[in-house]
Amino acid sequence: MLGAITVNEKSKPMEASQYSFQETIVASSKVNWRIEDIIGGDKKLDFSKRFMPESLARVNDLDFLNDDEKRILNQIRGHAYLSIFGLAEEFILPFVLDHVRPSLDENDYRVRAFLQFAGEEAKHIQLFKEFSKDFKANFRSECKVIGPPAEIAKTVLAHSSLGVALAILHIEWMTQRHYIDSIRVDEGLDPQFKSLLKHHWLEEAQHAKLDTIMVEELVRTADAETLEKGIDDYLSIGGILDSGVKQQAALDLEAFEEATGRTLSSDERAEFVEKQHQANRWTYLGTGMTHPRFLETLSRIDPEYRGRIESVALNFC
Ligand SMILES: [Fe+2]
Ligand SMILES: [Fe+2]
Repeated sequence: MLGAITVNEKSKPMEASQYSFQETIVASSKVNWRIEDIIGGDKKLDFSKRFMPESLARVNDLDFLNDDEKRILNQIRGHAYLSIFGLAEEFILPFVLDHVRPSLDENDYRVRAFLQFAGEEAKHIQLFKEFSKDFKANFRSECKVIGPPAEIAKTVLAHSSLGVALAILHIEWMTQRHYIDSIRVDEGLDPQFKSLLKHHWLEEAQHAKLDTIMVEELVRTADAETLEKGIDDYLSIGGILDSGVKQQAALDLEAFEEATGRTLSSDERAEFVEKQHQANRWTYLGTGMTHPRFLETLSRIDPEYRGRIESVALNFC
């Protein structure tokens, strides 16, 4: 339980967490699924359908593409989406393990909840690798993804613990928002791709709560300088992600031209990269930065941090 603490002169005392380790363990044991049950065998991707909701893919903004080409680009975006999640999970996994490692004898529920969190992320990394194999075996071009994951993980993990924990909290709430607002309600998506997203979302719901507690734990022991660095580092990680997803838009253009056999004009290429970069910004940055629960946690640390992030988020919508 978090006691009432003052994190810096401007902040309100942080109250007890609304989430509990025990409840997340119970909830996650109810939804726990096996990779073998959701991918492989007769569970195949249907390439005649879209993979991503249009609110995230934003392929309809590209007027110079026909319907088939838009669907192909949408599928390329779907491949990048799960690959980028896998990549993020490669830094979430060691971070969660490092967070719990020094205090294994303090609270049994806490240890089990964080290990469950880490174990699920390890499973998701494996699931997304399996998906990528399935996709590559059936798609008509090579779809490159930013990386390598180990290098990105090293760069992200070089930031302060609070900065990384806030970036993870952003990612966890972002996943919830994507599924609830855009994916669950979209009847036109490929059922197999949608099933992977649904199973991922089910386990991520507990991660968002556990990462909220993790941020609260870090804030409880932080002085004003550590808090400032945490926010600065969160923004720095956001900047790394932004340049990564800009590169991804260029890689998606390459994959698109190869898959469709179409060579775009230089104006069309520029428009493609600009609009798809902005679509990626909304997908990976804006939807997390503006999530009400993420903003609520920032407010609890310091309302000024919330205001700062909200103004930066305007670039990513
Ligand atoms: Fe995950
Ligand atoms: Fe997660």
